[in-house]
Amino acid sequence: MSQYKKQTKINLSTLKTMKEKGEKITCLTAYDASFAEVLDEQGIDVVLVGDSLGMVIQGRQTTIPVTVDEIIYHGKAVNRTLKHALLMVDMPFMSTATLDLALANATRVMQQTGAQIIKLEGVSHQLKIVEALTESGVPVCAHLGLQPQSVHKLGGYKVQGRSDKDAQNMIQSALDLEAVGADCLLLECVPTNLAKQITDAVKIPVIGIGAGVDTDGQILVLYDLIGISTGKIPKFSKNYLATKGSIQGAVAEYITEVKNKTFPSEDHTFN
Ligand code: KIV
Repeated sequence: MSQYKKQTKINLSTLKTMKEKGEKITCLTAYDASFAEVLDEQGIDVVLVGDSLGMVIQGRQTTIPVTVDEIIYHGKAVNRTLKHALLMVDMPFMSTATLDLALANATRVMQQTGAQIIKLEGVSHQLKIVEALTESGVPVCAHLGLQPQSVHKLGGYKVQGRSDKDAQNMIQSALDLEAVGADCLLLECVPTNLAKQITDAVKIPVIGIGAGVDTDGQILVLYDLIGISTGKIPKFSKNYLATKGSIQGAVAEYITEVKNKTFPSEDHTFN
């Protein structure tokens, strides 16, 4: 259990302190008030209202159809029961494609959901947008590596950053994003060594999913963790309900394994 559990609401300073002290940051997705309360009671550090809701709640093939209105609906529900965890909310496909859209949609999400940070995909080449948001007081988590909103462009859900050139580009993007004010990075499906290099290169917290054990924190889609996601369960995920027998027990075990660095193991990582 996190030493921060009994403290008041987790904020970005807490996450930065955890990185400095080497305490792993635990994160899970949630999309409704009841699950959010379970995660909060077990002491999760960060809850993400992810656009993965398009797939696990709405049964869609990709995250692309999720709208700003839908993410706000779920963000509001989650925020009603979170007392301790930091609330991160995803910005849907194309909702931050221009400066005007980014400022308008970030305003809506921040004001209506109570998000403490928003997460954006596709911002490696949109540094001005990240800069404008952070200068306006909007905390930003930049999602690098596999970005599901670009699945059609990428030609599938594939590990990213395998070639030297792609790895160098990702390291440079991480440094650029930090320089323009990003408060956090999320790395998805990235080889362990590359994720470690990026985590060591930046001062801001780096959360990983399928990015090895060396990132500052870990995130999973809650429905993968309790084994109810439809379709193929990704290699980087783990069904904790299978062994723990209750949702509360599964979440508690995930938190323990992330904190003591036994999750992710080699079985759940890419080289
Ligand atoms: O939408 C989501 O749930 C995510 C996680 C997979 C990190 O972006």
